[in-house]
Amino acid sequence: MRIKYTLSVVFFVALVIIEKENNIISRVSDKLTLKQTPQTPLHHSGISQTLPKHNGSFPSFGKMDFMLMKRRLEKYSEHQEVTTKGRKHILLLATTRTGSSFVGEFFNQQGDNMFYLFEPLWHVEKMLTLDTGGTNATAAAKAYRDVLKQLFLCDFTLLESFIEPLPVNHITTALFRRESSSSLCEDSVCSPFIKGVFERYHCRTRRCGPLNLTMASESCLQKEHRAIKSVRVRQLETLRPLAEDPHLDVKFIQLVRDPRAVLASRMVAFAAKYKNWKDWAMGGDVPIDDDEVRKLKGNCDNIRMSAQVGLRQPPWLRRRYMLVRYEDIARFPMRKATEMYKFTGIPFTPQVKSWILKNIQASKETSGVYSTQKNSSEQVEKWRFSLPFKIAQVVQRACGPTLKLFGYKSVSSEEMLTDKSVSLIEDKVFNFL
Ligand SMILES: *[C@@H]1O[C@H](CO)[C@@H](O)[C@H](O)[C@H]1NC(C)=O
Ligand SMILES: *[C@@H]1O[C@H](CO)[C@@H](O)[C@H](O)[C@H]1NC(C)=O
Ligand SMILES: *[C@@H]1O[C@H](CO)[C@@H](O)[C@H](O)[C@H]1NC(C)=O
Ligand SMILES: *[C@@H]1O[C@H](CO)[C@@H](O)[C@H](O)[C@H]1NC(C)=O
Repeated sequence: MRIKYTLSVVFFVALVIIEKENNIISRVSDKLTLKQTPQTPLHHSGISQTLPKHNGSFPSFGKMDFMLMKRRLEKYSEHQEVTTKGRKHILLLATTRTGSSFVGEFFNQQGDNMFYLFEPLWHVEKMLTLDTGGTNATAAAKAYRDVLKQLFLCDFTLLESFIEPLPVNHITTALFRRESSSSLCEDSVCSPFIKGVFERYHCRTRRCGPLNLTMASESCLQKEHRAIKSVRVRQLETLRPLAEDPHLDVKFIQLVRDPRAVLASRMVAFAAKYKNWKDWAMGGDVPIDDDEVRKLKGNCDNIRMSAQVGLRQPPWLRRRYMLVRYEDIARFPMRKATEMYKFTGIPFTPQVKSWILKNIQASKETSGVYSTQKNSSEQVEKWRFSLPFKIAQVVQRACGPTLKLFGYKSVSSEEMLTDKSVSLIEDKVFNFL
């Protein structure tokens, strides 16, 4: 008698929970339908409101309820499939000088089915840095995530609030690198260019008037897939709510590169910012606990920790994470592009293929010393002849575990650093499926 009573109570509780979740799901669906209207303002905290989640206060369940739980989960994933309908949301995560613009093009070139955005978070970072005179990592991570979520749903509202000057009637001339998104330069988003006004604001080979973000949003909604490239997200973990969001089917691609090569490249590209490093390279000792070295270590740790989360394959990231090394892309661009497309589940179009072919040929022709296809393995390791050994050592001390995880060999002497017969790139397969 008592057992029966307990069972029915448990059963009742379970039903209530199912009922509750169904309500949440139908509310979520309503919201989603509404959301098809572009530019509908969303609450900034929309993410946490719409996510059906347990808050740890469920009563403990018996064996019987395992079946019910299972059914609920099945229902939940069915729902997830229905709401995204094969639509993919690709987030290319990188840091500067890792070839992310090049890899971004793999998706930018996909064709009429893809809406691609290049570094939209630039505006968010800029505004947060101006506002607070420094970045609060927690606040920034949340802002990045909220903006990304809206953009994946073709809603520019929140991003607009970070654009300076503030767009008027959703019109702006200030979107960072608009011309890097072919989706923002195509006919449906290219309003007439008026001579003399916004002369600088061009779109690749054509000229467009100011960007109408309502038009951009409408165009985005027509596309099947969406891709965003960003060098600003610090920790993959902070994006977990995106992976769990039933409106999205997010695929994360993390792009990494040998930190010694990254530093060598930044010392050239951002000479002023890297002045200390240049001074150290020329002479003088690198202070052990210098801010710059601490920053380098912090960056390496962030990259490594994100990759460790991804490679560990927690349930929320299953089939959603892929790690790619710059060096592999440089050496085997077509193979890696094919793998990336396979991972995302999006067709690898002939446009992408021909773009890659054109661009690897161009780089061979124009690469001077490395012309006549001297071989891209050498190309990828040419930093070894510009970065002094002592700087390489500093990087190895600060980034040891990162080098190890990604298969970059440390060097123990100047001779080893500049010995062409030894590659510092280990063959490494990162399992992501
Ligand atoms: C968790 O659930 C309990 C019981 O339903 C509720 O009282 C509480 O407010 C919830 N907490 C959060 C953070 O949602
Ligand atoms: C950073 O932002 C979070 C979230 O907005 C806030 O709770 C915290 O107090 C901030 N920290 C600092 C040091 O300002
Ligand atoms: C921007 O585009 C929308 C949708 O096409 C249109 O209704 C609106 O008038 C445009 N705004 C301007 C200022 O042209
Ligand atoms: C390219 O260079 C690497 C390292 O120097 C060497 O191992 C490889 O065999 C070379 N490949 C070709 C095609 O020459």
